[in-house]
Amino acid sequence: MSRIYSNINTKDPIYKKRYEHNKKLLNKVNEIKEEVQKGGSLKAHEVNKKRGKLFCRERIEKVLDKASPFLEIAPLAAYNIYDDNVPSAGIVTGVGRISGKEVMIIANDQTVKGGTYYPLTVKKHIRAQQIALENNLPCLYLVDSGGAYLPMQDEVFPDRDHFGNIFYNQAVLSSKGLLQVALVAGLSTAGGAYVPAMCDQTIIIKEQGAIFIGGPPLVKAATGEVVSAEELGGADVHTRISGVADYYAVDEEMGLRKVREIFAHFPNCKKYELDRVAPVEPYYDPDEIYGIVPETTETFYDVKEIIARIVDNSEFEEFKDRFGQTVVTGFARIGGYLTGIIGNNGVIFPESSTKAAHFIELCCFRKIPLIFLQNITGFIVGKKYEHQGMPKDGAKWITAVSTANVPKFTVIIGNSYGAGNYAMCGRGYNPRFLWMWPNAKIAVMGPNQAADVLCQVKINQYKRDNKILSEEEIKNIREPILEEYRNKSEALYSTARLWDDGIIDPARTRQYLMLAIELSLNKKYDEVNFGIFRM
Ligand code: COA
Repeated sequence: MSRIYSNINTKDPIYKKRYEHNKKLLNKVNEIKEEVQKGGSLKAHEVNKKRGKLFCRERIEKVLDKASPFLEIAPLAAYNIYDDNVPSAGIVTGVGRISGKEVMIIANDQTVKGGTYYPLTVKKHIRAQQIALENNLPCLYLVDSGGAYLPMQDEVFPDRDHFGNIFYNQAVLSSKGLLQVALVAGLSTAGGAYVPAMCDQTIIIKEQGAIFIGGPPLVKAATGEVVSAEELGGADVHTRISGVADYYAVDEEMGLRKVREIFAHFPNCKKYELDRVAPVEPYYDPDEIYGIVPETTETFYDVKEIIARIVDNSEFEEFKDRFGQTVVTGFARIGGYLTGIIGNNGVIFPESSTKAAHFIELCCFRKIPLIFLQNITGFIVGKKYEHQGMPKDGAKWITAVSTANVPKFTVIIGNSYGAGNYAMCGRGYNPRFLWMWPNAKIAVMGPNQAADVLCQVKINQYKRDNKILSEEEIKNIREPILEEYRNKSEALYSTARLWDDGIIDPARTRQYLMLAIELSLNKKYDEVNFGIFRM
């Protein structure tokens, strides 16, 4: 493979301005993350401490192997969404190593409204289980939750991807041989009682954990019986009388130790063997990415400058470099693993579509995972290209990406607009992970295009009635659309709604991809099975 030649001049004032700008964006995200990681209110923390309980993030830290990374999923979920502050959507999820095994950890944050499930808490829990299923990961549930957030029950309970789906997923994961373990470290009430009940092995902590379908207040209201939580469904009851839990722990330390023992006795999964050589750091410094990415996503930049700062030794074997040049395709190694990379250098044309579809076929037949670096405003429009069959060629690419048998990983490094989002493996195309950079934007189209389209629709309506809109009236239609599109395409807006798995530091993209590839190897890659390519 040959090394990418970089044209970046780190002394250039434009580079410096971009560097400052992108660092500022990242710092803003990091500040929010830091705040969110504190969990609920000070008062809730104090109550928790008084009860002798650990904070959910402390539990995670203690249960992980000493040197284990923790790949946190969607830390900024629910940011600025509900009237209440619901940091991290009241649940911490992520992958780390326990007793040498890669495990998906799902931990309720009891300091956020008693660990109850808001709509986005449910969505985040289910996303974590989906990642576990796709990457063959066992799960650990650190349970401390009052179940559904009752004021929003209509958005939490009845539908397919609501609360009940959590327990369904547990059964499915278990049926695939993926160990499901619960540590009941607080109350596990009502519907929530099924998280530990549906696990393969469950530990419960003395005078701290409790499992019941109806808690003491409900029992009193229903039958008049006065009973304490411990008597109703505490550790003694469930390990000695009911058998709902399997292990009795006198405190959290013992409970967490037991978790580690259980995972130590779980057989190690044999990793799929991907083509790998010794990893080499990129020749160009990943830190330079901050100086490359422009201040607005409307300014072009060469995706190969980014590839050079992600892949081993900055080496890239480009495929069809002279053809369909707005899509960049090629092979490179990341952490020693052979990968196929697809990036954008402009709007998508028919020939760039067929080139991408061809490249995906090559990767699928050779079982090479695919990485999408998305910076795309969409497919080319206009009579010439419609006549040329743009939708047909776009469909070839979308067919290939949809039915690719290899793991796909997507990083949105700029724009993610329109059908470009589909072709470049947006959320609907099931990438194993999808991350955004702080500068990234996502929407059906850019703010200007949306404003133009909607103004044109209005102008046409007026024309039908023989009226003409004044400049002022057009401006009054345009401005609010621009404003709304700008706000709603931001990375923070996306990540709060779990349209992605988190906003990442651009300079650490390589590390995220390496971890993601490692995780994907827990599952054997499927055989090639494409649909019909429209010719
Ligand atoms: N829905 C909405 N809010 C809830 C809630 C629920 N199911 N359970 C608790 N809360 C809120 C409380 O109103 C309180 O809010 P505030 O801080 O704004 O006052 C906050 O969560 C903490 O509750 P609190 O009871 O003070 O904390 P706790 O640690 O002593 O107990 C629970 C937490 C969850 C165990 C306890 O509140 C409880 O049993 N809740 C009812 C659970 C239930 O029956 N759920 C049915 C779900 S299907």
